[in-house]
Amino acid sequence: MDSDPRPPLAAPELTIVLPSYNEAENIPVIVGKIGDAMGAIAHEIIVVDDDSPDGTAAVTRSVAISHPHVRCIRRVGRRGLSGACLEGMMAANAPVVAVMDADMQHDETRLPVMLAEIADGADLVIGSRYVDGTRAGGGFHKKSRAKGSELATSLANMITGNHTTDPMSGFFMMRRDVADTVAGTVSREGFKILFDIVSRFGAELDIREVPFEFRERVAGESKLGFLVTVQFLGLLVSRFTAGLVPAQFLLFALVGTSGLVVHMIVLFMAASLAEMGFVAAQITATYIAMTTNFIFNNQVTFGHRKLVGMRFWTGLLTFYAVCSIGAIGNIAFSERVFEFGAPIWLAGLSGAVMSALFNFAVTKLVTWRDA
Ligand code: GDD
Ligand code: MN
Repeated sequence: MDSDPRPPLAAPELTIVLPSYNEAENIPVIVGKIGDAMGAIAHEIIVVDDDSPDGTAAVTRSVAISHPHVRCIRRVGRRGLSGACLEGMMAANAPVVAVMDADMQHDETRLPVMLAEIADGADLVIGSRYVDGTRAGGGFHKKSRAKGSELATSLANMITGNHTTDPMSGFFMMRRDVADTVAGTVSREGFKILFDIVSRFGAELDIREVPFEFRERVAGESKLGFLVTVQFLGLLVSRFTAGLVPAQFLLFALVGTSGLVVHMIVLFMAASLAEMGFVAAQITATYIAMTTNFIFNNQVTFGHRKLVGMRFWTGLLTFYAVCSIGAIGNIAFSERVFEFGAPIWLAGLSGAVMSALFNFAVTKLVTWRDA
């Protein structure tokens, strides 16, 4: 409006999305570093915080008082890196969006270089930690991490079709209209949003790479743990089977396998120590294993929609009900397969896999449905 006395703010050319979980110490520093790196290029920074207990959101808002190009999206009751990145990208005002770690492991001085690639016609620019096939940077301080990362990268490359040397990178930039196009189909679960984008749209996009050195984390700790690794393997299985096996199923199946161990221990103790008859011991073991499975799945497989309070108990009951149907189906199915002349292990295994898929599909719909 003409009567507005305030000087106009420059429209941002680039939006930088910083997903964050417990990065309170890092936010003020990285905002300064990005400012230095961007120089005269107008930009905005969106911190997407999943309600970190260390107060990252409050710190971001206090930084924003003196840096109005910074804002915070505070998500409550949700966790997940991919979902956070997506939400930040969708909230961007600039025509180009970048995603980077909030912990200074990514080299912010590469941002103008990446932006220049976009101006030159690239759809997607990836900050790559692998230059000429060798890995770069002290961020891979753990040997296991470097090895695991190499293995995952070669697997991921097989699937994505070698469009990039680093499909697992958390540092990338794209035009916002590209982000808008992919938004509807990328998975919001897990860690690997770039992998997901490249594996689906790699062939259609002009992808360029800008090398950078993966630095060591200064403050806070990495959230890339066992769970994230299993989630990623689940995503790989899902891609290999063209979506036939859902990404979460691997985790569900792992939990189920641990349930088998619980089952055998309880069965043995009930039968030998408590001197129960076989049927009573078997029923006891079955329901105890179902209960531990329910708790693990609630905590891990469906941790993003964890049931608490009253819903924990109603959820447990529906889980019992569904898994009991699954167990009956398992027995009926494996019996048929056995009668058909299959060896006993194949009959047993096919019944177990059938009922596990059934339990997964139905409990996902019934027990952990969207509230
Ligand atoms: N909002 C939100 N929610 N942010 C998260 C979450 C979450 O659940 N989990 C992690 N983050 C944030 C962290 O605070 C950090 O800013 C960034 O996402 C990356 O997490 P790190 O924990 O620092 O991951 P990393 O350094 O071990 O892993 C890096 O390398 C991977 C490949 O090896 C990241 O760049 C990954 O994106 C990358 O895939
Ligand atoms: Mn990091």
